[in-house]
Amino acid sequence: MKRVTAFVGTARKQHTHYAVRRLLEGLQSLGPVESEILALTDYRVETCRGCKNCFRKGEEFCPLKDDRDVLIEKMTASDGVVFATPNYSYQVSSIMKTFLDRLGFVFHRPRFFGKTFTSIVAQGIYGGSKIVKYLDFVGMALGFNVVKGTCTTALDPMSEKERGKIDSIVAGHSRRFLAGLSRPQYPVPTLFKVVAFRAARTSMRVMLDETSRDFTYYRDKGWFEADYYYPTRMGVLKRATGRLVDAIAARMTSKREH
Ligand SMILES: Cc1cc2nc3c(=O)[nH]c(=O)nc-3n(C[C@H](O)[C@H](O)[C@H](O)COP(=O)(O)O)c2cc1C
Repeated sequence: MKRVTAFVGTARKQHTHYAVRRLLEGLQSLGPVESEILALTDYRVETCRGCKNCFRKGEEFCPLKDDRDVLIEKMTASDGVVFATPNYSYQVSSIMKTFLDRLGFVFHRPRFFGKTFTSIVAQGIYGGSKIVKYLDFVGMALGFNVVKGTCTTALDPMSEKERGKIDSIVAGHSRRFLAGLSRPQYPVPTLFKVVAFRAARTSMRVMLDETSRDFTYYRDKGWFEADYYYPTRMGVLKRATGRLVDAIAARMTSKREH
């Protein structure tokens, strides 16, 4: 049984919720999946103050006392995660962005490896495809295996024609997401991912020291010596590129006050 949790960032239970419900119903009709829809507006998600305590000292030093850890625990307990938002002014909704900022330290110390992510954007007219790309990048940066998200389009009230089109797009999305959930949890990383990992870990090693949580996290995970975040097979090209990126990153960075 796969567990999927959708995090929905809108104050109305309208088009974004509709698409998410259809996605999850589709999944459940195709395979052994249990799911939960979680409205971010039902949780306390406060605005990041930018102190960077989470980066430097650790997330437990965050001055905000909200539901961040409850939401992270929901993701940790899931095999699949969906981030869904309306298109607001060509971007995610403010509640979704506030939530993403609360995950800021996870972009430094990704942790959701072995889990599958996808996104849904509901829009009135235009601009949602770029938001899907943004959310899918966010999913990758958090450590997830990403299944390309979808953008649905409808005006208020949704017409039968729009509903039919959304149903068909989302049915395809359910199939792709279930396939993603069924693929190996720890895939061989792309060259891009290897390069990103090596550049990040080498600059952390050089720039930071053990007074920084980012540094101790990477050190304790063995990431300063590892080929990648998790054990994986790696061909000659990726190995060589990885070493080159380590060397370039080490030359381009130096110890910093933090
Ligand atoms: C503040 C605001 C900004 C919006 N900006 C856009 C936009 O830039 N592009 C667009 O296509 N739709 C835009 N819309 C329309 C919503 O994306 C659309 O109504 C969507 O279906 C709302 O999702 P919901 O029904 O889940 O609330 C905007 C709506 C609001 C309230």
